[in-house]
Amino acid sequence: MLERLLLPDTHAIAILVKDHDRVKDLFDRFEKEDSGSGKEKIIGEALTELKIHAAIEEEIFYPAVRRQLGKDVMNEADEEHHVARVLIAELDRDGRGDDHRDAKFTVLAESVRHHIKEEEGEMLPKAKGLEIDFEALGQQMLARKKELRRDGIPPDAEHKMVAAANGRGDSPAARARRGSKAPAVSARRTRSVVREAGRRSGGGTKAKRRRPAA
Ligand SMILES: [Fe+2]
Ligand SMILES: [Fe+2]
Repeated sequence: MLERLLLPDTHAIAILVKDHDRVKDLFDRFEKEDSGSGKEKIIGEALTELKIHAAIEEEIFYPAVRRQLGKDVMNEADEEHHVARVLIAELDRDGRGDDHRDAKFTVLAESVRHHIKEEEGEMLPKAKGLEIDFEALGQQMLARKKELRRDGIPPDAEHKMVAAANGRGDSPAARARRGSKAPAVSARRTRSVVREAGRRSGGGTKAKRRRPAA
């Protein structure tokens, strides 16, 4: 487990852990918040913090520890960042008033809590033992944070992907929004897809049996 209190504030790992505490606090506050405007303020703050945190990890911290920590730990962290980035991009795109907004943010919070648990439980304790100048790394991370806050955060690939889908990239939410407008068509389509799958696998009752090759 991470001995977080023993690290100086400018140590790279201490900077990451402090960021984690800040976003976890925002997630806790979101759960207790009742007003729409209060929730919106928290979402805005959390998304900015998460984007900046992900940037300093992906640009500076992860590359510094990747080779020594190995791809199992690091690739899983990459994929967790990717999933979070998709949800963040959708929250940015849909804006206030979307009926799935609270649920989407809650799922983002759950996913980030899980990611933090893995970083603090496995990645960071292992990284702490490496021969790395964590003070110098920390300085780089703080400088990059300052730059991102001053100049803005550039759009990532997930924002471009979500923008290109133009609202068609979230099929469960879109289906729920359509409600009962087209159930008969959906049911027919489902039956035809099932029949087609049966034919392809040769499992249908009318499927022709091939004579085994001699
Ligand atoms: Fe992190
Ligand atoms: Fe991370």
